[in-house]
Amino acid sequence: MAAALGALLLAAAPDAPWAEYGDVILNRRSEAQGVRPVVFPHWFHRIRYRCKVCHQELGFQMRAGANDVQMTDILDGKFCGMCHNERIAWGPDRCDLCHSGLPGLKSGIVGGAQTSGPGRW
Ligand code: HEC
Ligand code: HEC
Ligand code: HEC
Repeated sequence: MAAALGALLLAAAPDAPWAEYGDVILNRRSEAQGVRPVVFPHWFHRIRYRCKVCHQELGFQMRAGANDVQMTDILDGKFCGMCHNERIAWGPDRCDLCHSGLPGLKSGIVGGAQTSGPGRW
């Protein structure tokens, strides 16, 4: 299992920064809809949860920019909204904590072996 996952990761991202450690920018819809891009601190989350919580049970595809997430889904408890619901973690009303990216950031991976959370990119 671990070896298979390692091979999968290498195949998925041969030269990109490692998503496991960096931050993932989600900006398929945000800026076009007038809010800042979303900065998702992958490392911060992945040290707290197993991969399969998000990549199997929640259905997040393991490819930056692959997931089409809308706020209605989050409010319905899907994607980020499974946890960001004021019970497991702070809720969807905290717009700026997720929509913290600088204008113009493209979907993809930024950063390296650190987490940064809101306010860095
Ligand atoms: C827990 C994280 C989180 C919070 C909190 C959050 N969002 Fe989002 N939001 C996202 C993600 C992820 C996307 C999809 C990003 C993309 O691909 O552009 C998104 C997309 C959007 C979009 C574009 C898509 C759509 O559904 O119209 C708008 C507009 C938006 N958010 C507004 C808001 C507003 C306003 C708030 C606060 C009331 C808020 N968001 C709070 C994570 C969050
Ligand atoms: C809290 C949820 C969560 C957990 C836990 C999580 N991930 Fe992710 N992961 C995401 C999200 C969200 C994305 C970005 C998807 C997007 O951009 O549409 C992502 C993206 C990725 C990518 C894509 C990177 C790229 O280069 O395109 C890989 C690979 C990945 N995760 C691997 C893992 C591994 C391995 C683990 C466990 C060690 C893990 N993830 C744990 C939510 C999570
Ligand atoms: C499996 C549960 C889970 C999912 C799914 C999840 N989060 Fe979180 N997230 C958490 C928890 C728990 C915290 C810590 C909350 C706290 O400190 O009060 C957190 C914290 C954060 C932080 C703050 C990090 C910091 O440095 O303080 C951001 C930003 C964030 N999440 C964005 C997102 C976005 C965007 C998504 C969807 C793409 C998402 N999260 C999906 C559980 C989750």
